[in-house]
Amino acid sequence: MSSPKANTFSIREYQPADFPTLCTLDRLCFPEGIAYPAEEMALGLEQHGAFALVAEISGQVVGFILAHRRGRQWGHIITIDVHPQFQHQGLGARLMELAEQRLSKSGAIRLLLEVWVENRIAIQFYEKRGYAVRQVLSNYYRDGSDAYLMEKNLA
Ligand SMILES: CC(C)(COP(=O)(O)OP(=O)(O)OC[C@H]1O[C@@H](n2cnc3c(N)ncnc32)[C@H](O)[C@@H]1OP(=O)(O)O)[C@@H](O)C(=O)NCCC(=O)NCCS
Repeated sequence: MSSPKANTFSIREYQPADFPTLCTLDRLCFPEGIAYPAEEMALGLEQHGAFALVAEISGQVVGFILAHRRGRQWGHIITIDVHPQFQHQGLGARLMELAEQRLSKSGAIRLLLEVWVENRIAIQFYEKRGYAVRQVLSNYYRDGSDAYLMEKNLA
């Protein structure tokens, strides 16, 4: 697989037929115990106000973001994954930007996400986008690992 420039990707709405591909991508991006089992991914998509955006290059799914509205004022980034061969090309930033815009338009003024405490690249990625660590969530993942709860204020 080659690594085309970031501006060659396109982003579209999630379709149910994407589900197995998103699960495969998540397993590719995370170690066992941190990756979402298919049932949890399905639960995320079924949440009230949930949406997912899918990034493609030449018809191949190379990234996605899954998010939902939580309560009246909160938005939740459930997960974002970019295929390892297409990371660091601006794709994650664009997916975050579009998801945040959508959450903001639907009334969210604060955004939340959870990130594995060992995931330095993602923590840095979120900090650059205005998220700050609010809390440590002990034993958050199936393998007993902790997560940081990060928050961004859109107001
Ligand atoms: C976190 C993630 C979504 C970022 O997506 P991306 O397309 O690589 O990110 P972008 O190219 O848009 O943004 C680049 C920023 O991400 C971080 N980053 C991405 N890849 C990096 C790498 N290999 N090394 C260091 N920093 C990196 C940096 O902060 C970088 O900023 P910079 O360009 O100013 O150095 C992607 O790395 C990923 O899918 N990781 C695996 C899954 C994951 O951890 N998801 C988060 C779930 S909580």
